[in-house]
Amino acid sequence: MEVRAKAPGKIILAGEHAVVHGSTAVAASIDLYTYASLQFPPLSDNDDTLKLQLKDLNLEFSWSVGKLKEAFPVDSGCIPLSPTACSPECFRIIAALVKEHNIPEAKIGLAAGVTAFLWLYTCIIGYKPAKVIVTSELPLGSGLGSSASFCVSLSAVFIALSGCVNLDLNKKGWFMFVDSELDLVNKWAFEGERLIHGKPSGIDNTVSTFGNVIKFRSGTLTRIKSSMLLKMLITNTKVGRNTKALVASVSERKLRHPDAMTAVFTSMDSISNKLATILESPAVDELAITEKEVLLEELMEMNQGLLQCMGVSHASIETVIRTTLKYKLSTKLTGAGGGGCVLTLLPTILSKTIVDKVKAELESCGFQCLTAAIGGNG
Ligand code: PMV
Repeated sequence: MEVRAKAPGKIILAGEHAVVHGSTAVAASIDLYTYASLQFPPLSDNDDTLKLQLKDLNLEFSWSVGKLKEAFPVDSGCIPLSPTACSPECFRIIAALVKEHNIPEAKIGLAAGVTAFLWLYTCIIGYKPAKVIVTSELPLGSGLGSSASFCVSLSAVFIALSGCVNLDLNKKGWFMFVDSELDLVNKWAFEGERLIHGKPSGIDNTVSTFGNVIKFRSGTLTRIKSSMLLKMLITNTKVGRNTKALVASVSERKLRHPDAMTAVFTSMDSISNKLATILESPAVDELAITEKEVLLEELMEMNQGLLQCMGVSHASIETVIRTTLKYKLSTKLTGAGGGGCVLTLLPTILSKTIVDKVKAELESCGFQCLTAAIGGNG
């Protein structure tokens, strides 16, 4: 039997980092997905291994189920319906994976991702042999929520097969999760994210699970009914960065400058709330849309300025900002910063000729330009 799940990546429209410290953030899903497929029972009878194939990275990991049970005992309280935080064993497994596969320091997130897979699988499915294949359309570690969509797609496929929820199939053969089951998928995915990122806010896994546009604050989700079809140019600077380290650096800056940083987080909160209000307010005609876009551009610029105050911008991000500013376009980083992806709002009245010119100029700097539809299903 084979079961597949897909989960989207995301962009953060406002409030990244500040959301870790209790401020509001607004995020939207994008139509680039991670796909997880699970096959069991295994093809041959005497195969007692659990395999994980990461197709885009050309990597395969396998564990004998017997050994896995010994090395990775799941707490007895850990059952599919009650997500629990990972055990300290997980961190020993990350260290062992790094050693065994000679994983360089910069790719430690990969070892953490593999461990998150083991944690989710053993907790939700148990110790059955199987083969899990993961592929993704998202550039890895670039701020588009690749790790969250990895955790959400795995969590969805495991929960669908756990037998603890009764799912209906739609006409296309996809299992349909209702909100309470999506909550469960989201909670497990968050535990995976915690293993990978240390102290995530939960916004990435939440938007990947529920899709569309969401407002997120201290673990609470509000769905946003956007009246606008936002067009964003996503520029991948291709500069690698580490979300965990960047999140920690902001916390350290807050410890050194508590008053100034608290003011920054409060401003971020106002920006996110204003942005959500603008998205939700009805736009009756083209003029109203243009006016709303101008307000959104200002909010994006202020958001970027505050991210600079937090110390998470990067020379490559500043190059994208300078380049797009020549065309009077507003740009902000999305996600953790330090490189990764950058968003530029493309106003509805902007001609295709200008968009092509901007893209060509950015690509000539070595960046990759992506276009993605915003706000699709989770
Ligand atoms: O995973 P990234 O790189 O898209 O960043 C996540 C957004 C942060 O606000 C920086 C961290 C978080 O957990 O909310």
